[in-house]
Amino acid sequence: MSFLQTLAIRNTILFLFHCVPSGLPAGQYCDLISDCAKKFNVDSNGMADISPHDGHEPFVAFTTKSKNVARSIAAVHLDEYVPPSLSDNKTTVIFIKAELPDGQDLFIRGGIDHARRQGCDLMDARLSGCSLPIRHLAVGNDTYFQKFNTWSKGDNYLDWYGTELHQGEYNHQRPYGTPAVLTTNRTDEPGYSPYNTFGHGYWMVAVEMDCTRTQNGYFEIKAMVNGAWETDVSSPTCSGNGGGAWPYNTNNHWARCGYKNVFQYGSGTCSITTL
Ligand SMILES: *[C@@H]1O[C@H](CO)[C@@H](O)[C@H](O)[C@H]1NC(C)=O
Ligand SMILES: *[C@@H]1O[C@H](CO)[C@@H](O)[C@H](O)[C@H]1NC(C)=O
Ligand SMILES: *[C@@H]1O[C@H](CO)[C@@H](O)[C@H](O)[C@H]1NC(C)=O
Repeated sequence: MSFLQTLAIRNTILFLFHCVPSGLPAGQYCDLISDCAKKFNVDSNGMADISPHDGHEPFVAFTTKSKNVARSIAAVHLDEYVPPSLSDNKTTVIFIKAELPDGQDLFIRGGIDHARRQGCDLMDARLSGCSLPIRHLAVGNDTYFQKFNTWSKGDNYLDWYGTELHQGEYNHQRPYGTPAVLTTNRTDEPGYSPYNTFGHGYWMVAVEMDCTRTQNGYFEIKAMVNGAWETDVSSPTCSGNGGGAWPYNTNNHWARCGYKNVFQYGSGTCSITTL
């Protein structure tokens, strides 16, 4: 049964939903705000990626069978925005080495697996127990950092759901998640970061993170480029003094709160070291 048939038969209520739904049955859905011009897929894990028809209005409308869920979500939308406090923050740095064509940007999503934790049903970064409160560190004020700084604004969670409600938008470009900035280890180049002791091509996310929301200090991440998820990876462990035994199995990267985490795009090779 298609989504529209479901709509017609059940006459279910419409509501606005922030970015990426989950917990929906696998299949193709469409965005009612764009009169179904925009389609999106939900995979067998209930994960979806949605581009709203208008980036200034980061919502899509679709139906659900549950009126309770709908009411909760509507309440989320109307809430006043309050950035989360970080109860036990540690500086956490994530690098992903990726050679991307000019003009492409790398974002990360992550947190804790929905199957491993309760309280992740509302697919809103602020309410989901699977998202991790973060605060971006200042990395630079040069024009080189302008795009990254715009996207970092209002990005207060590492989460699975994409653009946050109050997250900055650069030139009508919607951030696909937590933005990374392309760094180098050369002091004479724009994009220099003292955390980068490696070389060119390292995309960096440097944040204060609430470690109490992680799984024994660990959390998952996956990159997203041009709206597409990075391929699945397998990492039995990571090198470095912070690599170790993972809390559970995942096809994403494992990273550690309070450490410097270095990954390769699309590969299980990684290192986790103290900062
Ligand atoms: C993180 O912890 C540091 C050191 O305790 C503190 O100065 C800083 O304000 C905290 N950051 C946030 C966002 O709470
Ligand atoms: C950028 O400017 C802000 C505000 O003036 C300052 O707090 C921050 O330290 C600067 N960041 C860098 C990396 O220079
Ligand atoms: C930057 O990294 C490259 C590659 O590892 C290395 O050859 C070079 O010496 C480093 N440069 C600096 C300034 O650290």
